[in-house]
Amino acid sequence: MREEILQPSALADEPDSLLAGPALHPDVVALRPRTLGEFVGQAELKDRLRIILEAARRRGQAADHLLFAGPPGLGKTTLAGIVAVEMGVQLHLTSGPTLERAGDLAAILTKLGEGDVLFIDEIHRLSRTVEEVLYPAVEDFQLDIVLGKGPAARSIRLDLPRFTLVGATTRTGLITGPLRDRFGLVARLDYYDVADLEAIVARASEIVAADIDAGGAHEVARRSRGTPRIANRLLRRVRDYAEVEGDGRIDATVASEGLALFGVDERGLDKVDRAILNAICDRFGGGPVGLSTLAISVSEPTETVEDVYEPFLIQQGLLMRTPRGRVATPAAWHHLGLVPPPSSYPRQAAFSDLGEEFDR
Ligand SMILES: Nc1ncnc2c1ncn2[C@@H]1O[C@H](COP(=O)(O)OP(=O)(O)OP(=O)(O)O)[C@@H](O)[C@H]1O
Ligand SMILES: [Mg+2]
Repeated sequence: MREEILQPSALADEPDSLLAGPALHPDVVALRPRTLGEFVGQAELKDRLRIILEAARRRGQAADHLLFAGPPGLGKTTLAGIVAVEMGVQLHLTSGPTLERAGDLAAILTKLGEGDVLFIDEIHRLSRTVEEVLYPAVEDFQLDIVLGKGPAARSIRLDLPRFTLVGATTRTGLITGPLRDRFGLVARLDYYDVADLEAIVARASEIVAADIDAGGAHEVARRSRGTPRIANRLLRRVRDYAEVEGDGRIDATVASEGLALFGVDERGLDKVDRAILNAICDRFGGGPVGLSTLAISVSEPTETVEDVYEPFLIQQGLLMRTPRGRVATPAAWHHLGLVPPPSSYPRQAAFSDLGEEFDR
C-alpha cells in the first residue's frame, strides 16, 4: 500500500525526462498551479469550485466531496492539490489500486485531520470491499472496524474528522452509482483549447526560463493534443532542440522543426495515435474493428488505447466508436495521405449502425 501525506507544493508530476533519478526536477514541480487563480482554462469548473470552496470556508466546514473525471494530463491531481491549498488543509494522496484491503483505507482515514483532503486517484479501480468502507466514511464520517476473528469478533465504530474526498478517474462510466452519488460535485475536465494552452505554455516558459515568442507558443499549444501535461513536455523538448540546434530562441519555425524531430505531427498526433489510425485504415480497411484487436495490433494495453488515445482521436473527428467497433473517418484517411473508400463516410456508417440496432 502506498500513501503519502504531502504539502501540495511537493506534488509530483509525471517522471518525464529532464529528471535524473527519482528526484523531481524543480521545473516539473513548479509547473503545477497551486491556486485556482493559477489554474488556466476550465472556466465553468473553476467557477463552481470557487463557490463550493468559498461557501465551505465561510461556514468553517470541510468542502463537499468532489469527483474529477477526464483523460490523463488535464489537471485532476492538480485540482486536488489546489483544493487543499485553497482550504488551507493537508493533502493525503492514495489511489484505487494501492488500497487493496479495507484495512489499508482504514489506516489512512484514521490519520486524517479536521477538514483534510483525501485524494484517491483512479478511484474507479477501488475494490468492492474497500468501497464498502468508504461509504459510511464519506457520508457519516464513521468507520466500522472489525476486531478479532470468528465468534469473538466484534465491531467498533470510530468517529472520523470531517474531511473532503477528492476522487479522480479517467472513466466515469466505471464508477458505481452509489459511489458517484456520494460526491457533491462531479466535474468533467475537457480538452483545452489552443488559447488556454498558449497561456499554459507562456506560464511554463516563464517558470523554466524558455525563450519562446508568441508564434512558438502557438505552435506548441496547437500540437499538444489539448493537454497541459503534453504542452509542458513539448515545450521542454522544443527548448532542448532550440538550445542544441539553434541559439535557444524558439519561434514558430524552430518549434515546428523540434516537434517534427520528436515525432509530433502537424495535428499534434504522436506515433501511437498514427499507429492506431494506420492500423484501422491500412490493416482493417477503415473498420469497424474491435477495441482489443486494435490494441493488440498497436501493442498497447486495451485500457491505454481506450482512455488515453481514443478520446482525443474522437474529439478530433478522426475516429468513431460504433456498436460494431472502431471506424476511421474520412478525415483520418486524409490525414494519413490516403484516399478514403466511399463506405467510410460517417453518414453511411451512422445509418448502417442504426440499421443494425433496428434489426435486433
Ligand atoms: N489548468 C492548468 N493550468 C496550468 N497547468 C496545468 C493545468 N492543468 C494541468 N496542468 C499541468 O499539467 C500537468 C498534469 O496535470 P495533472 O497531473 O493534474 O493531470 P491529471 O489529470 O491528474 O493526469 P492523470 O490522469 O494522468 O493523473 C500538471 O503538472 C501541470 O503542470
Ligand atoms: Mg493525476
